Amino acid sequence: MMILQTPRLLLRELTPRDADAVAQVLSDPETMRHYPAPYDRAGVEQWIERNRQRYQNDGVGLWAMELKQTEEVIGDCGILLQQVEGERFYEIGYHLRRDQWHQGLATEAAIACRDWAFAHLKTNRLISLIRPENLPSRRVAERNGMTVWKEVNWRGLPHCVYSIERGQLPVL
Ligand SMILES: CC(C)(COP(=O)(O)OP(=O)(O)OC[C@H]1O[C@@H](n2cnc3c(N)ncnc32)[C@H](O)[C@@H]1OP(=O)(O)O)[C@@H](O)C(=O)NCCC(=O)NCCS
Repeated sequence: MMILQTPRLLLRELTPRDADAVAQVLSDPETMRHYPAPYDRAGVEQWIERNRQRYQNDGVGLWAMELKQTEEVIGDCGILLQQVEGERFYEIGYHLRRDQWHQGLATEAAIACRDWAFAHLKTNRLISLIRPENLPSRRVAERNGMTVWKEVNWRGLPHCVYSIERGQLPVL
């Protein structure tokens, strides 16, 4: 199912058939260096299944990011329900295959998810949870109009909670 599109990208629900393409992203040690470990094949399949459960339970999840020009899946971007200090928030998340970095693709997808979320979800705040040393991800959040709201220990590691509130104009 297609969720949204941008000039270069299409976001749609992940299916088990995306496992090879997703593995090229989430099994890459460089892409996953801010995570505890890259995913092995079973981990990729479980990750796809978790997102399919999220579509059913939460109405959102991480979606497959397809390059319109080639119809290739080159990463994921989407919205996750996350618990931070006992409160639930919608988080915008993204991962991109390494050969596609530095073209503004993650920013393009994240902005589209932000606008989609404020249009479709009853929430006044969106967040992105980012390790302080993950500068590219921080840049994407900043260009998505977010600022650091607070710093928290999340799943045992320090994270910046980037945030944007409904109606808050993005700083360009
Ligand atoms: C984060 C990620 C999705 C960004 O994808 P991308 O499409 O290359 O991002 P964009 O091109 O939209 O923007 C990246 C910004 O970070 C900057 N950047 C990239 N690498 C950088 C680095 N090593 N140090 C500092 N800034 C960096 C870019 O210059 C760009 O900003 P600019 O255009 O103002 O210069 C990609 O790097 C990725 O998949 N990382 C691994 C997964 C991950 O960490 N996901 C986020 C988890 S919170």
